[in-house]
Amino acid sequence: MSIRLIVKDPDPVLREVAKEVTKFNANLQKLLKDMAETMYDADGVGLAAPQIGISKRVIVVDVGDERGLIEMVNPVIVEQEGEQLGPEGCLSIPNLNGDVLRADRIVVKGQDSSGQFFTVEASGFLARAFQHEVDHLNGILFTDLAENVYDITERPRKGGE
Ligand code: CO
Repeated sequence: MSIRLIVKDPDPVLREVAKEVTKFNANLQKLLKDMAETMYDADGVGLAAPQIGISKRVIVVDVGDERGLIEMVNPVIVEQEGEQLGPEGCLSIPNLNGDVLRADRIVVKGQDSSGQFFTVEASGFLARAFQHEVDHLNGILFTDLAENVYDITERPRKGGE
């Protein structure tokens, strides 16, 4: 495993529509491991492959709840309901947070590292993290959606995505 460099806005890779994964091989498994290691090293709660410069539809999420690390390939949000407004940050946009309106409950369907399909039902902060990471795969950053964006350098907080 190795920690990868996290690319920062305005790197153009963050604005690409990432490619669907079709090969479920050792390279993908190494990518997932590296992404998790990179996310934990940066004190993040989620990471999408474009954030390490790889334009593929791969995400990892761990918001510190009992579900632990969730690795998902080719994720698609298939159901969503409700609303939540709350603060978000991003490992690719250091020092900024913003309040983003998200669905409160989602069902996301994707594949594991061997290509098996599975679904995750999530609400609250976990649902927010999934929506943030899936946006990354479509070239969307939280600053595109935020009602306001503010500098947090004077009061740093953890939990970037
Ligand atoms: Co992010």
